Amino acid sequence: MEIGQIIQGGMGVAISDWRLARAVSEAGQLGVISGTAIGYVMAARLANGDPGGYTRHALARFPDQEAVRRVLGDLLGAQDRPRRRPRPPMWSPTPSRRLVELTVLATFAEVTLAKEGHRNPVGMNLLEKIQMPTMATLYGAMLAGVDVVIMGAGIPRQVPGILDRLTLHRPVTYRLDITGAADDGLVIRFDPASIFPGIARRTGALARPLFFPIVSSTVLAKSLLRHSSGNIDGFVVEAPVAGGHNAPPRGPLRLDGRGEPVYGPKDRVDPERMVALGLPFWLAGGEDTPERLERAKAVGAAGVQVGTAFAYCEESGMDPELKQRVLEAAATGRVTVRTDASASPTGYPFKVVQIAGTLTDPATYRARPRRCDVGMLRHVVRLDDGSIVLRCPAEPVDHYCAKGGRPEDTAEAVCLCNALLATAGFPYQRPDGFVEPPIVTSGDGLARIGRFLRPGRSSYSAADVLAYLVQHSPGRVDHHRLVPKNMGTSQRPEQSLRADLP
Ligand SMILES: Cc1cc2nc3c(=O)[nH]c(=O)nc-3n(C[C@H](O)[C@H](O)[C@H](O)COP(=O)(O)O)c2cc1C
Repeated sequence: MEIGQIIQGGMGVAISDWRLARAVSEAGQLGVISGTAIGYVMAARLANGDPGGYTRHALARFPDQEAVRRVLGDLLGAQDRPRRRPRPPMWSPTPSRRLVELTVLATFAEVTLAKEGHRNPVGMNLLEKIQMPTMATLYGAMLAGVDVVIMGAGIPRQVPGILDRLTLHRPVTYRLDITGAADDGLVIRFDPASIFPGIARRTGALARPLFFPIVSSTVLAKSLLRHSSGNIDGFVVEAPVAGGHNAPPRGPLRLDGRGEPVYGPKDRVDPERMVALGLPFWLAGGEDTPERLERAKAVGAAGVQVGTAFAYCEESGMDPELKQRVLEAAATGRVTVRTDASASPTGYPFKVVQIAGTLTDPATYRARPRRCDVGMLRHVVRLDDGSIVLRCPAEPVDHYCAKGGRPEDTAEAVCLCNALLATAGFPYQRPDGFVEPPIVTSGDGLARIGRFLRPGRSSYSAADVLAYLVQHSPGRVDHHRLVPKNMGTSQRPEQSLRADLP
């Protein structure tokens, strides 16, 4: 399998949707869909009448049409017409069969659409912090032939072994992180054969995607190589200027005068140390110029992963009106990006664009009545009496505190689930008419976004971004050839792949 020098970073929720990933992969680089909250995205698309019929077109290829009928029946009702508010239930350690089916189908559809019309690899991005849907999301993507899985925001040690087992449709488990307890006894299970009887017979063994964890230090990269449950095939090395969630600074958290985390020299990754690990790696975070791409390759990287520049291109899944508003404001220097240490319920710093009408606007934030009804970022907590609860600092404060949470943790927490669905053009309208407001994340590179707008143009395409990035090596597509290994029995990276330098 050949992976290009440019990875279009996975951007949730549905910012890097199948259209963007397909455009990038068609052009010969690696397009990546976001698997985050994908079941909610598919439900919302169907509720909007499945514009273009794409979801149904993809689901017609799913190898268990009974499951497709069940899920569509659930979401659309007997008349096959969208119900007003078809919201899937929230994930828990014991999810309903229908929720698992929905998640598998949604990822299958997204990857199938991203792969259509070309033969190049397509990747999927996931956040390790969101653990409960992970196995179902991976399986749906593998059924559609996803080529690479890229995972950040956490330490995804369990994932490589799960990928291995899912190639043979074997049952898998995921040990959930538990807050407030030393035990790691809570395990969530996924058994493909019991959810989709006979599927292994119909599809045969599945291909094992390559696995690239996202790291922000060589220490983490080494630890993953040593302690993961199967093969790792490469890394994305992300710097703190990148859009989305960032790794916290090493050492104790210090905030500057603007309340932003202070990063220092220890947070910089030495590329030589990455080279020494023997696996290909892509640099991410502000690596969005032809000069940075050349420099990345000169220091031994396979290429770069770019997010922000793609988030505002025509093919991205961001709500078109919001995209245009941020793009215009950024192009004329009227917008700033802030690294917010307390907005994300994950506890990770999260980059937010300061713009009116979104949740970074204090009036918009205050006007939103708290409510938790998607729940992807809920922490699993074991209370002193041994019981398990799920809680999110962005839920109503009294609910959070009743489950043992500290009120001070709720103060600036943002409901990213609802906000990011709104940013992707799927704002939930509550029964009382309140419409969920969006929030926009971007890297520091947002300030440079205007360079993509040619004179007289108010938009640009994914192809424009790619053409700009490779301008120092026009007509040349550098690729890393990787050989995926099924059933990773070896932990030794040099046996798991062959990286041919161009
Ligand atoms: C809108 C947006 C959403 C993002 N969402 C995710 C995500 O869900 N998971 C993830 O691992 N990275 C996410 N990222 C990070 C990108 O995948 C990529 O690594 C990063 O944007 C690269 O830095 P750059 O923005 O300076 O180009 C996101 C970035 C942006 C701009």
